[in-house]
Amino acid sequence: MRVFSGLQPSGNVHIGNYLGAIKQWVGLQRGNDALYCIVDVHAITIPQDPKELRRATLETAKTYLAAGVDPQKSTIFIQSHVPAHAELGWILSTLTPLGELERMTQFKEKRSKRDAVYAGLLNYPTLMAADILLYQTELVPVGDDQLQHIELTRSLAERFNNRFGKTFIIPQARVNKTTARIMSLAHPGDKMSKSDPNDKTRINLLDPEDVIRAKIKSAVTDSGNEIVYGPTAKPAISNLINIFAGVMGKPVEWITRESKELTYSEFKNNLADAVVQELIPFQQRFNDLKEKDVLSVLQAGAQKAAELASSTLKDVKKKIGFVL
Ligand code: AMP
Ligand code: TRP
Repeated sequence: MRVFSGLQPSGNVHIGNYLGAIKQWVGLQRGNDALYCIVDVHAITIPQDPKELRRATLETAKTYLAAGVDPQKSTIFIQSHVPAHAELGWILSTLTPLGELERMTQFKEKRSKRDAVYAGLLNYPTLMAADILLYQTELVPVGDDQLQHIELTRSLAERFNNRFGKTFIIPQARVNKTTARIMSLAHPGDKMSKSDPNDKTRINLLDPEDVIRAKIKSAVTDSGNEIVYGPTAKPAISNLINIFAGVMGKPVEWITRESKELTYSEFKNNLADAVVQELIPFQQRFNDLKEKDVLSVLQAGAQKAAELASSTLKDVKKKIGFVL
């Protein structure tokens, strides 16, 4: 199957991104034809410092590689290296009713947090639809906050196909049940987020071991003292169980069975051990990567992606009446 996904190069990549998205990507490489993109064109829908954007873009590429995305199996590239994304994004924006974009939850959320909102932010979902549709993608592995965007992508594709003739495959989202929405360590009612000003709410993939341990130790828990799963009754412990299950690649039931006799603090110790065991080797691989090698992976990836994208874009242009 053709698989496509991406992450914005902004801020701190955290364990929610890792378990919700990147770890799924690694698993999907085998037997599929996957493209994983660093979506810098999306990142600039919110003002970015140019130096920081460049740094974060390369850091995100290193994160993919260190997490196990293998350039021999998957195509890794930077969105702005393939102009077809912006071209198809523009075309799709001319076919998307304004009201549908104004109703997007992420747009409303981001808008409510800022004084100035630019047109690109409203058009974020049409660009995302272009990312997906350009490659005739069948499967889009993401966290659950992206489901609405993928729903819009599907209806845009259907609408285009109905009006101009069959052009796009209708893609499907793929979320991992336990890790689709990892919550904040401090406020289990909120999603773990890159942009939360309180760093203690998340475990960043590059946090040193002592910081990881301290953050898990100070994570809020629920009343009572039993390790039982129940996202409504015990949202904080359930979130920690989800993280544990995600890191270990085990079902929730296995974690709860193994942890039944433990106190909260013993459970947190075990969780911290598991997270450290996953992230420290990741960090070693990350630190060993050389910028020159990363750039050459990205260059080869862009070339491959551009070839694939050009055939869909050409078809779209022909169908809408552009002179080729
Ligand atoms: P972003 O940070 O918005 O670029 O998100 C990159 C990927 O991580 C997307 O697939 C998101 O759905 C996913 N993601 C972001 N935050 C979380 C979270 N707290 N839990 C699970 N997945 C997440
Ligand atoms: N909007 C996604 C996010 O913030 C990133 C993204 C952009 C994406 N284009 C995509 C994800 C295409 C999947 C497929 O998480």
